[in-house]
Amino acid sequence: MIQTPYYLIDKSKLLRNLDIIRDVRERSGAKALLALKCFATWSAFDLMRAYMDGTTSSSLYEVRLGRETFGGETHAYSVAYGDDEIDEVVTHADKIIFNSVGQLTRYADKAASLQRGLRLNPQVSSSDFDLADPARPFSRLGEWNVDRIEAVMDRVSGFMIHNNCENGDFALFDGLLSTIEERFGSLLKRVSWVSLGGGIHFTGEGYPVEAFSERLKAFAERYGVQVYLEPGEAAITKSTTLEVTVLDTLNNGKDLAIVDSSIEAHMLDLLIYRQSAKLEPNTGDHAYMVCGKSCLAGDIFGEFRFEAPLKVGDRISFQDAAGYTMVKKNWFNGVRMPSIALRELNGEISLIKQFSFEDYKASLS
Ligand SMILES: Cc1ncc(COP(=O)(O)O)c(C=O)c1O
Repeated sequence: MIQTPYYLIDKSKLLRNLDIIRDVRERSGAKALLALKCFATWSAFDLMRAYMDGTTSSSLYEVRLGRETFGGETHAYSVAYGDDEIDEVVTHADKIIFNSVGQLTRYADKAASLQRGLRLNPQVSSSDFDLADPARPFSRLGEWNVDRIEAVMDRVSGFMIHNNCENGDFALFDGLLSTIEERFGSLLKRVSWVSLGGGIHFTGEGYPVEAFSERLKAFAERYGVQVYLEPGEAAITKSTTLEVTVLDTLNNGKDLAIVDSSIEAHMLDLLIYRQSAKLEPNTGDHAYMVCGKSCLAGDIFGEFRFEAPLKVGDRISFQDAAGYTMVKKNWFNGVRMPSIALRELNGEISLIKQFSFEDYKASLS
């Protein structure tokens, strides 16, 4: 028995997503790079490597991790590089995508050995949550002025555009891509590769994978470009649980259960985006608000139904716990950091990482 809390990554569930990614690559000719910002648990990369072309990154450390642990094509991107980083970034990457004309101009010569790209911002997105909306007013994420972009076309061979956010609606994706074509069509014809970023939930239940692949292929042919996708969430969705144990129950007008984890520390994105954790089957006569053990008053995983009253020692599995969790976990309150375990394809579970007091202490000084 592994001590809770721990994230449990199930390789057979990962495979479901990876098979779809392979299918899209084969049908469309697009390449797929894992977005490490979402999921960077490199013990799973032995499996993932066979289904994806490489990684994309948001920083020096991510690009280095991608190169060292995944291999394949390694794209470097960052909202802004510093003078102290750029030389090393160049050693780890095949392509480097600059966020602005300013960064491109500053570092184009240092990155002369790589294919260079620029992030474009089409000013439309699928997000309605301003915190995560790359097309929000005054967004710093990429350039949108065609004249400014025109002036640096001799220094780039490709573009990256990320404007889909949790988008499971193919028609919406299609419409957004058409807007990109209207705004930047003349520029797209002059580059050899275009990355369409992440945020497209094409591994979701019922997504029209064939139509999606055809759209990508038609886009690639129309502009004569190699298309890249940067799936984060789509690569790992529904592959992982966060396993926790009930430590206490009480009733303050509602039945409450406190578990040995913290949404603030271990599933931070849910808190940021004001979403509930997911529990299955979430049925039964007994309703509980399941809460984390940090001191934050709103450290609440959600309200769920159970078949029997919860008691100390009961186990709970929060579903869909791979994306933006392990990469964001933190030591708030010194709460024990969840271990990481892998369920192999043969069903065996191996503990691949445990965190200790020494790790906590070493994260401070
Ligand atoms: C540039 C870029 N690529 C890829 C991704 C991955 O997105 P997702 O995990 O939603 O697929 C993101 C997410 O923010 C991103 O900003």
